[in-house]
Amino acid sequence: MSNFQDKVVVVTGAGRGIGKEIARQFAAAGAKVAVISRSEASCQGAADEINAESASSATGGSATAYALDIADHEAVQAIGKQIVSDLGAVNVLVNNAGVTRDGLLMRMKDTDWDTVIDTNLKGAFNTVKAFQRSMMKAQDPRIINIASVIGLMGNAGQANYAASKAGLIGFTKSIARELAGRKVCCNAIAPGFITTDMTDELPEKVREGILTNIPLGDFGATQDIAALALFLAGEQARYITGQVIACDGGMTM
Ligand code: NAI
Repeated sequence: MSNFQDKVVVVTGAGRGIGKEIARQFAAAGAKVAVISRSEASCQGAADEINAESASSATGGSATAYALDIADHEAVQAIGKQIVSDLGAVNVLVNNAGVTRDGLLMRMKDTDWDTVIDTNLKGAFNTVKAFQRSMMKAQDPRIINIASVIGLMGNAGQANYAASKAGLIGFTKSIARELAGRKVCCNAIAPGFITTDMTDELPEKVREGILTNIPLGDFGATQDIAALALFLAGEQARYITGQVIACDGGMTM
């Protein structure tokens, strides 16, 4: 495993689920992690848990909580400055925060559309705007965007979510080209069905239906996505940019 000792890692949506596990694994590898989430309680809780683990395992990693809505452009720019001043130039940015507002298009409200696009897509624009200058000066800079297999395949009842994730993939490839000259590698991870609070909300029948479409016959775990994020942020991935890597038990092969 790569050593992230003293590297600064920003993870959005790290209050729970996939983002929290990504933050935990980076801290376990020695990184100083900015844990961003919408609510003060969830990001502080995640940071406290990670710091308690780091203290007992003496990895040198740490977590600092920053509560904010990543859809709010001005707030992200302000907290971005704060994070760089508190922790130093950012080496790794993981855009993980995401929401769903599912429903067939006939019944989808414009607020359902806006909330999903503003969080999942504009949120990534906001953070890259906030950190790109600092990242250009940092060592081995990496941007990792958490997309979804739904952005590759589409899904009935998720037009807003699919559009946001497909948009995030286009954004990833474009910034990979723009920032390549500055050696900032940008990649997307497309998780399949990962067991988290977000997916726990689905009815059992829907979950059973999804399982029949997964060749490996099982749902993924948050650890599977976190391990891939650490690989993409590490030295071994220095020649990988502009890619979308599915971690989905074979759903999209
Ligand atoms: P989750 O719902 O368990 O956690 C999402 C986190 O994002 C929470 O901490 C929440 O507070 C934060 N968040 C949401 N909106 C925010 C905002 N406006 N500002 C700041 N923080 C905000 O979700 P989960 O399952 O861990 O998913 C994480 C990412 O992975 C999302 O982008 C999701 O779309 C993606 N994904 C998840 C899959 C799954 O099966 N769980 C499959 C494919 C993609």
